[in-house]
Amino acid sequence: MEAFKYGCIVDGEYFCDRPNLSRQLANYISSGQNVVIQGERRIGKSSLVRAAISGMRGQRAVFVDFMGVRSVTDVCNRMADALARFDSEDSLYRKTLALLSHLRPIVTVDAMTGQPTITVDAAASRNPASVNAAMDALAQHAKDRKVCIVFDEFQDILDVGDGEQIFALMRARIQCLPRTCFAFLGSARNSMLSIFLSPKSPFYKSAIVFDVGEIPDDDFYAFAKGRFMTGRRKLPRETFDRILAFVNRVPGDVQELCDAIWQASAPGDAITEALMMKGIDIVFAREAGAYATFIKPLTDIQLRVLRALATIGGEHPLSGEFLRLAGVTTPTTIKRSLTSLAKSELIYDIGGGYKFVSPFFREWIRRRI
Ligand SMILES: Nc1ncnc2c1ncn2[C@@H]1O[C@H](COP(=O)(O)OP(=O)(O)OP(=O)(O)O)[C@@H](O)[C@H]1O
Ligand SMILES: [Mg+2]
Repeated sequence: MEAFKYGCIVDGEYFCDRPNLSRQLANYISSGQNVVIQGERRIGKSSLVRAAISGMRGQRAVFVDFMGVRSVTDVCNRMADALARFDSEDSLYRKTLALLSHLRPIVTVDAMTGQPTITVDAAASRNPASVNAAMDALAQHAKDRKVCIVFDEFQDILDVGDGEQIFALMRARIQCLPRTCFAFLGSARNSMLSIFLSPKSPFYKSAIVFDVGEIPDDDFYAFAKGRFMTGRRKLPRETFDRILAFVNRVPGDVQELCDAIWQASAPGDAITEALMMKGIDIVFAREAGAYATFIKPLTDIQLRVLRALATIGGEHPLSGEFLRLAGVTTPTTIKRSLTSLAKSELIYDIGGGYKFVSPFFREWIRRRI
């Protein structure tokens, strides 16, 4: 069994407790306060919400994930599907299907897991107003019960052609449910905050902003040390501090690197910096194909800018030193390359500067390109 998990929602022994954040979040949810949960990618937003809710007595939640939605049908399907997973109680199930009837829902059951899925008809759910039926079905579950509704990757709705209209319709429905708590999750890096802070948005000032930041180093160390101990490996604090610094304290990346180090080590080992380097090589080997695909479409200048960024960091990408290192004469050329690299999601804007999305890709560029 693996000691570390990454790239998925974690719980139980794979989840480092965040008691302060969980308590604060639980307080908002139990008082019915709508809340926007935002933070960096892979910082632990989705896992934290689940942990906070599962720690509350009698509290349940419908989890809707809008990741990658591209059409109104997708948006409706995600809500319908969340309901299919939420409750198998017969009467409620029938009510859900009745509320969705305009969207011509089809129920299928996974032969392997026995898990039912509800899919709505694409032609019947083309219009943004279709979202109303799905919202009503959700509301039915939240009525008179301790059920909170969690909208994960909420900002992805903006990628739907009628995104703004869908938001306005959702907001109108949510306003009719003052006793139901909604939690909206999204990444700090994109439009999440503007949805709630821009006066032009239908969601303006409709929820309290809750920031998920880093896990305190001491807590994270105790957690990681315990995980390594399950395989009789000793994790010295200095090595863990190096791991934290290498991945900028992002929990998902900490777990990814620890998993690779776990593979590189054996029972009885102390985790040294040399093992950490072996771990990084394992990550490179796993990701080599993806990295090659990332750099294939890049121009020579973009590649040089990326290398400069990996070497001296992206705090001052228009400085003389950066230009010299990238072998570029004008700041406009740098700016253009950075914008294009950010569009490909290899790097992201940190307000004036830029950072690599993945610390592993950064290191790979620094060492191998
Ligand atoms: N409390 C935690 N303790 C240990 N590891 C964690 C914790 N929270 C998150 N992680 C690590 O980060 C990974 C991503 O977690 P999660 O999906 O909850 O983050 P997220 O912020 O929702 O990410 P995304 O931005 O991709 O939606 C997990 O697979 C796990 O490796
Ligand atoms: Mg998430």
